Amino acid sequence: MAQFRLPKNSKIKPGKTYSSADGANNKKTFRVYRWDPDSGENPRIDSYEIDLDKCGPMVLDALIYIKNEIDPTLAFRRSCREGICGSCAMNVAGTNTLACINDIADVKGDVKVYPLPHLEVSKDLIPDLEHFYAQYASIKPWIQTHTPPPPDSERLQSKQERNALDGLYECILCACCSTACPSYWWNSDRYLGPAILLQAYRWIVDSRDENTGERLDDLEDPFKLYRCHTIMNCTNTCPKNLNPAKSIAEIKKLLVARTM
Ligand code: SF4
Ligand code: SF4
Ligand code: FES
Repeated sequence: MAQFRLPKNSKIKPGKTYSSADGANNKKTFRVYRWDPDSGENPRIDSYEIDLDKCGPMVLDALIYIKNEIDPTLAFRRSCREGICGSCAMNVAGTNTLACINDIADVKGDVKVYPLPHLEVSKDLIPDLEHFYAQYASIKPWIQTHTPPPPDSERLQSKQERNALDGLYECILCACCSTACPSYWWNSDRYLGPAILLQAYRWIVDSRDENTGERLDDLEDPFKLYRCHTIMNCTNTCPKNLNPAKSIAEIKKLLVARTM
């Protein structure tokens, strides 16, 4: 019988506990994944008890408070702090989300914070997104044309043509959807995953692009596109309320339509 063994450093050990100062009466505990690959030690879960009266309302505010006031070694990404840049994507209370728009008050009990699942971890809450970005580059996310632009204007769109990009252009490439997709967990070497396929669809339906056929040719592949089994985790988890599963279905429809 086949035997499987987890990699040595995948076993998570109990970590350190930091208690808030006596007298705090609005306390919440954050249980945070910690791993420093340079230390040679296994990952651990550290517990930080925070006085919520001393930090802002969002999970990212708590992480910033921990880093500034309790433990400067905690590593995580963030930039805009308002759900626009996608940097603070992580798993909070079991769901992939953006920490900066995740209200602490919505989490019952201790707040469990992990990096996005099924990616290599660079450190603590920072996943390695190199492969994800390489997949993004592979779909050529820019307008491709063969004809020259009009001599006296930009390449214009009608209102309807522009509307076709709604629900697509808002994607901030946070990777919450792809890292919630079981097909992507097991086949991310070849399956593009919901985020990149939504982006691919965004360029396919852009009226200004003149490489639609080539873009569809490139996706007609048993792995790049057809590993999606409509499980819908992607759409359910998107913190921007987008629908990557629908984009994937639309690409499949276009591929069928052009064979008729
Ligand atoms: S579709 Fe949503 S979850 Fe996926 S990368 Fe874009 S914004 Fe993030
Ligand atoms: S619908 Fe497709 S892309 Fe979305 S989670 Fe399911 S398998 Fe993944
Ligand atoms: S910090 Fe930019 S999306 Fe959260």
